[in-house]
Amino acid sequence: MKGSLLSVLALVSWALASLDLPAGVPRSVHEFRKRHPIQPWADDPPGRQLITIRASENDTDDVSDAFLKALHAANHGGTLFLPGGSTFVIGKPLDLTFLDDVQVRLDGEIKFTNDVPFWQKNAFRHPFQNSIMFWKWGGKNVRIFGDGVLNGNGQRWWNEFSGREILDSTNTYLRPILFYAENATGLDIRGIHFKDSPCWTTFFVTSKDISLSDVVCTAESKNATAAPKNTDFFDSLNVERVRIERAWVNIGDDCFSPKSNATDLYINTMYCNGTHGQSMGSIGQYAGELSFIRNVHIENMWMLNGQHAARLKAGSNVGYGFIDNVTFKNFWNGNNEYAGFLDSCYFNIDATTCAKYPSRVNITNITFENFSGTTSGKYGRAVARLTCSPNAVCSNIRFKNFNVTSPCGGPPLIICDGIKSSIGTPCVSSSSQEAKSALANKCVAKMASLPSATPW
Ligand SMILES: *[C@@H]1O[C@H](CO)[C@@H](O)[C@H](O)[C@H]1NC(C)=O
Ligand SMILES: *[C@@H]1O[C@H](CO)[C@@H](O)[C@H](O)[C@H]1NC(C)=O
Ligand SMILES: *[C@@H]1O[C@H](CO)[C@@H](O)[C@H](O)[C@H]1NC(C)=O
Ligand SMILES: *[C@@H]1O[C@H](CO)[C@@H](O)[C@H](O)[C@H]1NC(C)=O
Ligand SMILES: *[C@@H]1O[C@H](CO)[C@@H](O)[C@H](O)[C@H]1NC(C)=O
Ligand SMILES: *[C@@H]1O[C@H](CO)[C@@H](O)[C@H](O)[C@H]1NC(C)=O
Ligand SMILES: *[C@@H]1O[C@H](CO)[C@@H](O)[C@H](O)[C@H]1NC(C)=O
Ligand SMILES: *[C@@H]1O[C@H](CO)[C@@H](O)[C@H](O)[C@H]1NC(C)=O
Ligand SMILES: *[C@@H]1O[C@H](CO)[C@@H](O)[C@H](O)[C@H]1NC(C)=O
Ligand SMILES: *[C@@H]1O[C@H](CO)[C@@H](O)[C@H](O)[C@H]1NC(C)=O
Repeated sequence: MKGSLLSVLALVSWALASLDLPAGVPRSVHEFRKRHPIQPWADDPPGRQLITIRASENDTDDVSDAFLKALHAANHGGTLFLPGGSTFVIGKPLDLTFLDDVQVRLDGEIKFTNDVPFWQKNAFRHPFQNSIMFWKWGGKNVRIFGDGVLNGNGQRWWNEFSGREILDSTNTYLRPILFYAENATGLDIRGIHFKDSPCWTTFFVTSKDISLSDVVCTAESKNATAAPKNTDFFDSLNVERVRIERAWVNIGDDCFSPKSNATDLYINTMYCNGTHGQSMGSIGQYAGELSFIRNVHIENMWMLNGQHAARLKAGSNVGYGFIDNVTFKNFWNGNNEYAGFLDSCYFNIDATTCAKYPSRVNITNITFENFSGTTSGKYGRAVARLTCSPNAVCSNIRFKNFNVTSPCGGPPLIICDGIKSSIGTPCVSSSSQEAKSALANKCVAKMASLPSATPW
């Protein structure tokens, strides 16, 4: 009785109280747009030919043939113009890998039909994690600009997927990625709102010079029992030179998550609510395959109500590789599980299996610098945890000015196992009494506040 009364009281005070974002940080899409206006290209030549198409009259009025034709017409120097106040419904898979010097001005909305059986039969397929795609973008010098919406119409997909797991070997309910590009060189997206993707929001494969700026990404379910699962904002395979600057993200999985083979990534200013964090990887999950992530700079991150803030993920056994030269800088934490997390046992494997097939992904030259804010209390007073695999080397991992506190009170603690040499601040082994009592000291944090769900 007493216990349940206490937990009811705890729940009430948790629901009433909230953790405020520091002054000046945008609290809504509206404030984000005001603070970070969309920047046009300085080098854009005037007089590009404008091509336009008729708008859809209703949610099944598919204009994909006209859209494809218009992109062919705008290719080599023109612009496809999709004005505000109009919706353009896409009901068929589109191969857009032929692009060369083309722009899309998207002020209106591109919306995909939600005919699940049709898309599951006809969408493009990618072997990685059994992905399907509405369309494929690719080519050279492609620019997409505007304050319009790319709408994946995900609600039906989330409802019907509910209760399943994407990587379950028996899962046959495949969901499309909202924006997919392969073999793209020079793809620059500005301003667009990526909305309600059925599955991952973006996926860039074998591409170079990718840039996203002043973008909004949301996946918000209206059905309490159907979460927008696996709606990662950013995923990639085999990419070089990626820049993401100023993004507002409210989705249900990784906020930013390059996977195998990523080089030279620069990420500056993101606001991520309810995500799994800024995750390097997971890599090294596939048999015999070398994979790596290197040269990543990621700074000015506002991480709210999520799982981990800065994260390095390596899968157990089989694959091998490295994550080298990553700087995580200026991370504000509001109600995240661990503010820094290095995990050599991804994904969903128990400690015994992990110990039997240890990861062969080396993790080197990593900096966690200027971290502030508070965790969720899920792991008590432990605010960061680093676990290196016995089959790998984790070296030159440095914490500087790491000042994350626990809402449970008492001194915060960092746990580290198998890390070579000092991390520049005290840390203790998970088997120590200190770590055990810090982990046991659990509590429930306040929610980091945002006024309301995205109003569009
Ligand atoms: C949607 O619009 C198209 C084009 O005008 C029309 O042919 C179709 O009948 C409309 N469908 C519905 C359900 O209103
Ligand atoms: C909400 O999702 C559940 C699956 O979890 C589904 O059974 C139900 O029909 C959905 N509700 C609505 C209104 O679509
Ligand atoms: C990229 O282009 C190459 C050669 O043009 C082609 O073989 C390949 O299938 C394309 N797609 C990817 C994902 O590499
Ligand atoms: C922020 O994320 C939390 C956790 O997922 C969620 O409960 C909350 O509704 C989100 N806030 C907004 C404004 O969407
Ligand atoms: C990553 O790069 C390595 C080395 O070039 C290559 O062997 C491997 O197949 C690549 N992985 C992916 C997923 O393309
Ligand atoms: C480490 O990565 C940064 C980019 O974040 C890059 O400027 C630097 O040259 C890299 N260092 C080495 C040794 O490659
Ligand atoms: C990991 O580090 C060890 C020790 O330095 C080295 O022998 C091995 O080749 C490295 N593995 C990779 C994939 O770089
Ligand atoms: C540390 O990060 C916070 C935001 O997380 C930022 O406001 C502050 O300016 C940073 N400090 C330095 C010295 O860069
Ligand atoms: C770590 O960084 C140092 C200095 O830039 C470099 O010499 C070394 O090769 C890096 N380590 C690995 C494993 O790449
Ligand atoms: C660490 O953060 C707390 C607030 O969370 C602040 O009171 C304290 O001054 C900070 N310490 C340092 C060394 O920055």
